[in-house]
Amino acid sequence: PSARFTLDPAFTVATVDPRLFGSFVEHLGRCVYTGIYEPGHPRANAAGLRTDVLELIRELGVTAIRYPGGNFVSGYKWEDSVGPVEQRPRRLEPAWRSTETNAFGLSEFIGFLRELGPEAEPMMAVNLGTRGVAEALELQEYANHPGGTELSDRRIAHGDKDPFGIRMWCLGNEMDGPWQIGHKSAADYGKLAAATARAMRMIEPDLELVACGSSGQGMPTFGAWESEVLEHTYDQVDFISMHAYYEELDGDRDSFLASAVDMESFIENVVATCDAVGARLKSKKRIHISFDEWNVWYLTRHQQQTADEPLDWPEAPRLLEDNYSVTDAVVFGSLLIALLRHADRVKVACLAQLVNVIAPILTEPGGPAWRQTTFFPFAAASRYGRGEVLRVEVDSPTYRTEKFGEVPLLHATAVRDPETGAVTVFAVNRSQDAELPLEVALRGCGLSAVQEHTVLTDADPDARNTLADPDRVVPRPQDGTALSDGVLRATLAPLSWNVIRLL
Ligand code: AHR
Repeated sequence: PSARFTLDPAFTVATVDPRLFGSFVEHLGRCVYTGIYEPGHPRANAAGLRTDVLELIRELGVTAIRYPGGNFVSGYKWEDSVGPVEQRPRRLEPAWRSTETNAFGLSEFIGFLRELGPEAEPMMAVNLGTRGVAEALELQEYANHPGGTELSDRRIAHGDKDPFGIRMWCLGNEMDGPWQIGHKSAADYGKLAAATARAMRMIEPDLELVACGSSGQGMPTFGAWESEVLEHTYDQVDFISMHAYYEELDGDRDSFLASAVDMESFIENVVATCDAVGARLKSKKRIHISFDEWNVWYLTRHQQQTADEPLDWPEAPRLLEDNYSVTDAVVFGSLLIALLRHADRVKVACLAQLVNVIAPILTEPGGPAWRQTTFFPFAAASRYGRGEVLRVEVDSPTYRTEKFGEVPLLHATAVRDPETGAVTVFAVNRSQDAELPLEVALRGCGLSAVQEHTVLTDADPDARNTLADPDRVVPRPQDGTALSDGVLRATLAPLSWNVIRLL
């Protein structure tokens, strides 16, 4: 049987905020050092940024970039990361048990964003683990004040005449997690986040501020945490954060392929919690979601590996360098579909992370940079997923999963460019072994042709791109997709991510 749905431009979810295609650069492993920054590399520019990596990041189409952590931010001393490089201190970095040289810091990060282009904007996190309101204000003054004060003049003396203009700030990171440096109760964190937000807005009322939500839906405090934090911060913040990572466990690929079921329910649960707090507070304001960490991550494997590691404080070690398969990329594409389907409330999302560390781009020190399988769904979604998300209610055959019960084989969304009327359908076939015929009724869309159907799939679901074979997996054109009498007909390969562009 076929899967089907109807598209009608009169029925929309929301306009996509470009920041849905954000990412994340943490001082973790080789994301910064030998990832984006490697002075002495044959492709490094004068600032030490790898131009081969910059080119790939531009192709990926990343917008907002969260920095500098992650768990790292909860021990971050921003003053260490500015000024003459030779005077910056080396520090123990407890979150990832590494040595931080501070060779790359705040100014270098802003320089990196400027190299990327106009869509790249900073999403700066402040340390609410070991620090508080005062240090957040100092960082804000150093970064954003034009001049004439001690801290803004210090920035100018450091060579950055223009303020950094950071509009979006995260108030700490995963403060609900016992692993977090300076981990807090919801009440303690909520009060600190509200006080920090209030003070930061005294300097710049128009900032966009993100309060920490739970670090995962499985946390014992999930729900209660959001509720209590928002009771304290509702009037002061614009976003609550969400984090989710998915992995295949115990060979249960069917459940893994349905990971987006969990992601969508997680979003709906957090939205419901935000709105319940808003109702209690009799507020008309709506809190939005900053899904500022999401990805496929083989976390269980990482935890097993690090359990007995010696504490030898390496510089830029190889950490969390997952090499993604085609299956991972299909799940990843499905997570992107989940985010787009909730574009009415998810305004910011950050793919965690950008280079080497659970990333769409891998590099070798002194050597090449290449695209992981997950690079392709992200690049296509960022390129063609701009505009209005159309409502998609799928009628699809289902399959049985251990974790989520019956799940539709088809996961899909569609985005319409309001200027040209062009529509792009993003669709995943979750079946491991069967093709899925798809029929889309196009009502009032004024579309007449299939411009392109590309598919990411492989006879080997475990195929991946490696240093030895960096282009093993790439999207390919799919023939046979046709539009006639207002109906799009396509066949979705087993275990595939599809991009169908209609004109
Ligand atoms: O992205 C890797 C880590 O995952 C981040 O540092 C932390 O916030 C999360 O637990």
